[in-house]
Amino acid sequence: MEKTRVLVLAGGQSGEHEVSINSAKSVLQALPKDRFEVTSVVISREGRWLAEPESQRALERGSAPSGGELVLHQAQVAEGYDVVFPILHGPNGEDGTVQGLLKLAGIPCVGSSVLGSAVCMDKVMAKAVLAAHGIPQVAYQLVTRAEFTSTPEDAIKRINTLGFPVFVKPANLGSSVGISKAKNDAELHAALRLAFELDRRVIVEAATSEKPREIEVGILGNDHPQASPVGELTFDSEFYDYETKYSAGRAEMHIPANLPPAIAGRARAMAIEASKALDCAGLARVDFFYIDSTGEIFLNEVNTMPGFTKTSMYPALWGAAGVGYADLVSRLVELAQERR
Ligand SMILES: Nc1ncnc2c1ncn2[C@@H]1O[C@H](COP(=O)(O)OP(=O)(O)O)[C@@H](O)[C@H]1O
Ligand SMILES: [Mg+2]
Repeated sequence: MEKTRVLVLAGGQSGEHEVSINSAKSVLQALPKDRFEVTSVVISREGRWLAEPESQRALERGSAPSGGELVLHQAQVAEGYDVVFPILHGPNGEDGTVQGLLKLAGIPCVGSSVLGSAVCMDKVMAKAVLAAHGIPQVAYQLVTRAEFTSTPEDAIKRINTLGFPVFVKPANLGSSVGISKAKNDAELHAALRLAFELDRRVIVEAATSEKPREIEVGILGNDHPQASPVGELTFDSEFYDYETKYSAGRAEMHIPANLPPAIAGRARAMAIEASKALDCAGLARVDFFYIDSTGEIFLNEVNTMPGFTKTSMYPALWGAAGVGYADLVSRLVELAQERR
């Protein structure tokens, strides 16, 4: 049997550059050598694709130096591969841009294509689609930089309909970068200024009525996706901010989450429905807020390329379902080929 030639893309231009490289190392190690011939290319923070030997060094070091070729010259790098596995998070990686490049180059790609990736990356677009499907979410308002610059009073008036506290988030970033919880007008202004430094589009969300439990479901499959058991993240900080996310030992994973079976069932069904509504493919991790005292579930966000280290939530959720790490990554490559 001929081996499947896989190109793993890692690094990239987001705040999750190192996380991506860690995930990629795990995937490289795990793909069975008798079935796959794997090459990796690391993308620098400036968006340049490193040649193979430098990519190898970048993997060993855990981050990429500057330099390398501009992305547009590099679709050809992917030529000669059967599948590309873009283990990239955030802008210019998880948002449909790389997926578009690979689509133009005619190479199957692990995970969602252009539409699903782009819509899931933009928190406002994703919410609009999910609302059209009747999926419960917190109340929110979109504010653009142009509006905030020209008619800030109108923007503030709309935001105030949500009450306080609110969460202010750049619409297209991820990894909790630029996210603030604002409890009053002064904090709201500071939060908006910070978010607008990072994005033209900002979403302001009503905070849940109490500190939510944060539960997550893994999705695997193309047209008939399956849902994993439900996992839960616990932590002491006020919310799951950048520090808590990326400092070792600050958050704990519980799989399966200790939930009433009916709640777990609802979360899993909602995760499947959301991934279909958003045209996800291959994999996704769907994150929810669960309010213990009321039994409410709100869908928070859908990640089309979740963290993929051996201790990350997504592979751990499938591990609990009996799908080991190596089988999981092999299956993802097959799913990309099946969709062709
Ligand atoms: N509306 C909300 N109510 C309560 N907590 C929230 C709300 N929005 C975000 N949070 C907290 O902030 C964290 C990061 O928000 P999230 O939208 O998931 O951003 P990211 O895409 O960067 O992961 C969440 O995991 C949660 O702890
Ligand atoms: Mg999140």
